[in-house]
Amino acid sequence: MAKEFKGKTAYITGGSSGIGLATAKQLAALGANVLVFARNRERLEAAVAAIQGSRISEEQWVASRQVDVGDNEDVRQVMAEAVERFGPPDLLINCAGKAYPHYFEEIDYEHFDDTMKTNLYGVWNTTSALVPAMKRKGGTIVNVSSIAGFIGVFGYTAYCASKFGIIGFSEALRSELRSHGIKVAVLCPPDTDTPGFATENITKPEETKEASKGAKLMTPEEVAKELIAGLQKDRFMIIPGFDGKLNWRLKRFFPGLVDAVLQAQVDKVQRRRQAAGTEVKP
Ligand SMILES: NC(=O)c1ccc[n+]([C@@H]2O[C@H](COP(=O)([O-])OP(=O)(O)OC[C@H]3O[C@@H](n4cnc5c(N)ncnc54)[C@H](OP(=O)(O)O)[C@@H]3O)[C@@H](O)[C@H]2O)c1
Repeated sequence: MAKEFKGKTAYITGGSSGIGLATAKQLAALGANVLVFARNRERLEAAVAAIQGSRISEEQWVASRQVDVGDNEDVRQVMAEAVERFGPPDLLINCAGKAYPHYFEEIDYEHFDDTMKTNLYGVWNTTSALVPAMKRKGGTIVNVSSIAGFIGVFGYTAYCASKFGIIGFSEALRSELRSHGIKVAVLCPPDTDTPGFATENITKPEETKEASKGAKLMTPEEVAKELIAGLQKDRFMIIPGFDGKLNWRLKRFFPGLVDAVLQAQVDKVQRRRQAAGTEVKP
């Protein structure tokens, strides 16, 4: 699967928007058949039309299925029907996800639960539903984490818990599935201009905004392009963009420096607030 996408089958959760949709379109442009999954029917239908427009051959098929990745029973039923109808995926991209950034004490249990169910349980649910079928012919699984999957980011306690979990899960899974001809990769996008990112910004604390001020906002198309290039090079960790790659290296080799820089930005915002006589929390 790694280098050749023509005629292959890609299952993409979260394929109706943002990074998942951009990836679906680029895979279709490389000749893949694409099945996208999400909850909202209208957005799925619009996505299918857009992905069809990127195909290079009439023989390629594009389809969608409604599923809530956080609901294990729903995932099992939908994936079983999909495998029956379309065959197992050569490429499974677990891209469905969400973030609800806020100060820790402002994140209620329901938001934490929803974040974990969608981001972490979602990856587990689809992967466990599809691995038995994928073992028949081999393939590749991409789990979408984040830069916040290896750096603890202010305001992202729930999200970081889910995205750090995805990297650990993927590393362990890679080792187990290698002998079955299934490769596992992790995509760690930096801030990317998607509908999901716009929603995040509504509740994002000022400290978090300060920390990401200088970083380049990537487009979903740029992220998808780097994902596909990473797969073609058989990479495990796929980190799009210069800033993301730099952060990965700094965090590995100089973790204290990364902490100090991030903390300095948090302190700057909090000092500014104190000087203005406003509360530390909203
Ligand atoms: N954008 C960024 O800055 C950024 C940075 C790092 C990592 N990421 C990660 O990249 C992935 C895609 O993010 P994005 O920004 O492209 O998001 P997006 O534009 O909000 O798209 C999210 C997709 O996931 C689907 N989805 C959400 N909850 C679902 C559920 N419970 N079951 C099934 N599908 C569900 C959505 O469709 P429905 O709502 O219709 O279900 C939609 O198709 C996420 O895992 C995100 O955490 C994003």
